[in-house]
Amino acid sequence: MEHIKVNISNVFGTVDNAQIENLAPAVADGMEKLHKGTGEGNDFIGWLDLPSRVLSSDLVSDIENTATQMRGMCDVVVAIGIGGSYLGAKAVIEALNNSFDAYIPANGPKVLFAGQNIGEDYLYELSEYLSDKKFGIIVISKSGTTTEPAIAFRLLKEQLERQLGKSEASKRIVAITDAKKGALRQLATEEGYKTFVIEDNVGGRFSVLTPVGLLPIAVAGYNIRALLEGACSMEKASAVPGAENPVEVYAATRNALYRAGKKIEILVNFNPKLHFFGEWWKQLYGESEGKDHKGIFPAAVDFTTDLHSMGQWIQDGERTIFETVITVGKANHNVIIPSDEANLDGLNYIAGKHVDEVNKMAELGTRIAHVDGGVPNILISLPALKEEYLGQLIYFFEKACGVSGYVLGVNPFNQPGVEDYKRNMFALLEKPGYEKQTEDIKKRLNA
Ligand code: PA5
Repeated sequence: MEHIKVNISNVFGTVDNAQIENLAPAVADGMEKLHKGTGEGNDFIGWLDLPSRVLSSDLVSDIENTATQMRGMCDVVVAIGIGGSYLGAKAVIEALNNSFDAYIPANGPKVLFAGQNIGEDYLYELSEYLSDKKFGIIVISKSGTTTEPAIAFRLLKEQLERQLGKSEASKRIVAITDAKKGALRQLATEEGYKTFVIEDNVGGRFSVLTPVGLLPIAVAGYNIRALLEGACSMEKASAVPGAENPVEVYAATRNALYRAGKKIEILVNFNPKLHFFGEWWKQLYGESEGKDHKGIFPAAVDFTTDLHSMGQWIQDGERTIFETVITVGKANHNVIIPSDEANLDGLNYIAGKHVDEVNKMAELGTRIAHVDGGVPNILISLPALKEEYLGQLIYFFEKACGVSGYVLGVNPFNQPGVEDYKRNMFALLEKPGYEKQTEDIKKRLNA
């Protein structure tokens, strides 16, 4: 299998080799902490050998069989989840799907998402759309207590039961949650749903290669074995420490840039199908590194689209940014720009070229312009948008995230800051158990 490649030649105007090599001991230490399980958060590194472990188990067949059943019974499957229980599946499905999938009559079920927001109109419109559809639900929550998916599930479960009756509805609901804990586990047991377990030692944002990501991806019709095989090949390639290891190269380079004042990393794609990959990556790095008042701020843009909105800032704004560009080697289809006798649009100079050739020149031109403007870039090359390379990329970013977090000096596997908004929201909603917080927040608001 061809491998993704990391090229750092465009960072050398900002940092030199010595600054990157100086980080080699910290990177080696981060790698060792992961491999030996001796770092902070070591009870959440179950994702490290997940690809090889899952591939050699019966879990893949169980997921594939469940997906086949859902595809047979449903025209639409709603995957309910938020954060790590949503973004991985969304990223892979969007990367592989036809861009106009929503408008193409299905040869399998459409996978829609809910529970990733608290939008009343969103839920109304979803419910209205589902009212004459044969639909199923995959409800995903590791904790089993997250408010956003719990609201969406309560509404859609009630709707499905109304449409089909309780017994038929329960055949079309799959729950993915903790083995024992949480409201969702209890509910699934009582209602007799098919369930999959999210292992204790895999955090939400590292869970795309568990049933959390794999089931919705399989329901959408994609090859989860190829995805896992890609991840597995990166698991092996990144296990060997040293300067050739792509994970080490990326972790060292982005930390060297951070220490040189580049506080914002922009993940750039030149392929609209990778938009949600950027969203997944932002969560992975943002929740893992943004701690103790430290951390690279992860941003993402879609080029060339955003060159017409963010291009000015990136070229010429405050010089605190660097880019990590994901380049995709080959488009999956061919579109040639036609010649036109009148040439009124002046485009004949590119007639006969593939659209992707033009895109690649836009990409190269942008990278050169941004480097000239003081924005270094790391280039990550992906041979094509296919399951195996996406699997590699997912594992690559996960492992580099763990190593980077250790280099930065934080625990990459917790997210204490996420709780604060929830505490306030529960206090404002007068959730039982939050009486004291309710009193405090009301006083504060009325002061
Ligand atoms: O990465 C994380 O831990 C979070 O983003 C969670 O995935 C997210 O909050 C959803 O949590 P849960 O799966 O418990 O509903």
